[in-house]
Amino acid sequence: MPEIIINDQQIEVPEGTNLILAARKLGIDIPHFCYHPGLSVAGSCRMCQVEIEQNGRKRIDLACTNPAQDGMTVKTDSPEVKGIVKAVLEFLLLNHPTDCPICDDAGECKLQDYYMLHGLYDNRLNVDKWHKPKVHRAGPNVMLDAERCVLCGRCVRFCDEIWGEKQLGIFGHGSDEVLMNYPGKDLDNPYSGNVVDLCPVGALLDRDFHFQRRSWYLKSVKSICPSCSRGCNTYIHFDTDHDYKSAGKRIMRLKPRYNVDVNRWWICDRGRYGYSSIDNPNRALTPLIAGGETGWEQALTKSETLIRSSLKKPGPDGLALLMAPNATNEDVYLALRLFRDTVKFANLGYDIPSMEKLAADNILLTDDPYPNRRGFKDLGFGSISNTSEAAEIIEAIFAGQIKGLVVCGTNLEGMLGNQIDNLIAKLDWLIVLDTHKSSLMDKASVALPLALPAEREGTFTNVKGLVQKFEKAVEPTGQSLPLWEVLQRLGKRLNAKWSFEETHTVFKSLAEDKPEYDTLNWLATFGVNKGLYLDSW
Ligand code: SF4
Ligand code: SF4
Ligand code: FES
Repeated sequence: MPEIIINDQQIEVPEGTNLILAARKLGIDIPHFCYHPGLSVAGSCRMCQVEIEQNGRKRIDLACTNPAQDGMTVKTDSPEVKGIVKAVLEFLLLNHPTDCPICDDAGECKLQDYYMLHGLYDNRLNVDKWHKPKVHRAGPNVMLDAERCVLCGRCVRFCDEIWGEKQLGIFGHGSDEVLMNYPGKDLDNPYSGNVVDLCPVGALLDRDFHFQRRSWYLKSVKSICPSCSRGCNTYIHFDTDHDYKSAGKRIMRLKPRYNVDVNRWWICDRGRYGYSSIDNPNRALTPLIAGGETGWEQALTKSETLIRSSLKKPGPDGLALLMAPNATNEDVYLALRLFRDTVKFANLGYDIPSMEKLAADNILLTDDPYPNRRGFKDLGFGSISNTSEAAEIIEAIFAGQIKGLVVCGTNLEGMLGNQIDNLIAKLDWLIVLDTHKSSLMDKASVALPLALPAEREGTFTNVKGLVQKFEKAVEPTGQSLPLWEVLQRLGKRLNAKWSFEETHTVFKSLAEDKPEYDTLNWLATFGVNKGLYLDSW
């Protein structure tokens, strides 16, 4: 491993590590626009100039294109380096519009940061700036302001190298050079939002975040995308203090969180832009009894009465629980302890044929739209039941063998279409737990509103078996509650022998029963070894 000296500090780095990465290991940030560790090296922006002394000779060179070599001495802060970086910056800002007050990227822009750190010169330009196309649509999710672009080419390389199709390009020469859509192409790949994260300035922007919030108002929690079984690591950015711009909207955007074992720096657009279901007028807000609004106490008492009334007749064989694999491991664990072990329902099903098979690819997206099918399987959901296939349970209901049904988050209407009323007519009672209003909730004997992942904490197990924790961003909508808490309250009424106060105590108990799950230190920082590779480049 080569040993080098950067700003008088010695460091040993793996063979092939470039000087930007080596410096970052020492906590030294070498300014850069075009370099990103997830893309090929372009060496085009010229911002990463450093002084390199090697074999008795000194030179000014790029940090991104130079791998650390034994015996190198590097200076990132010599007067000469500072002068060159300042000059490059002045050149890049020559035609840059003074848009900061209205730019969504303000506060997160590398050009702003570097100007404050390395620029701080007076404007010497006394002629009009060169103008380029202002804000226009680059694709369904992304807009482009070519005037703000510093031509680093990261977005172009993302489309070429990660997605594998030319959708953006840099055209023209000199001051005329401009970033545009590739001729005849829309920026419509299913990972298009990543170019917004990659863009070091406010040239590429999320259309759904445009003028929504200043970045410095945003708060952030660590989360896991619930939109497919990959379990990409994300940040939820939210703001509940400045809602004059968009009343009722708390979740402002989702951003990828680096995890080398799952998604590296990327997320797909399905996951990124899927958050509108959270602050949505269609959310289930209150418990219902026969379609009429009620309180939790009344709804739980009614649920208890219905379940108790069926324990003798039709008895456990005539009772079923259908649960969609979007519930967390803590929910699954308590559902098993309540419905399988306490009231002993004989039929537990989760293997719901997906309403919507996703178009899987070899980047991240899987074909399973549910985030926790693996957790259900690992925890043995349905393992001692008569039937574990949703389709078999539904068949048994139509055959008159099952008379009481609890449904959690399952889109039965989508599955059965106009057969749904015939199914309900076969049941003595139906209890529905869900996050969004539906006609099934209106028709149910009891309907209970559930919180979404952004409104609670918990764990999902991804398609590869990785148990991943997510944090709560905002309070549950209306009177909704996390599913594990509903099960806890119902369990208490049905004489369950367990009691849990918090999500992490449910997980602790789960991990005691299932030692393979005891890999997650609930209080630790999510067990991800970031090493050198941070979220933000
Ligand atoms: S739009 Fe952004 S990412 Fe693309 S070349 Fe310009 S500055 Fe770089
Ligand atoms: S690949 Fe799956 S888990 Fe990852 S962001 Fe997309 S939908 Fe979410
Ligand atoms: S980061 Fe090295 S030239 Fe752009």
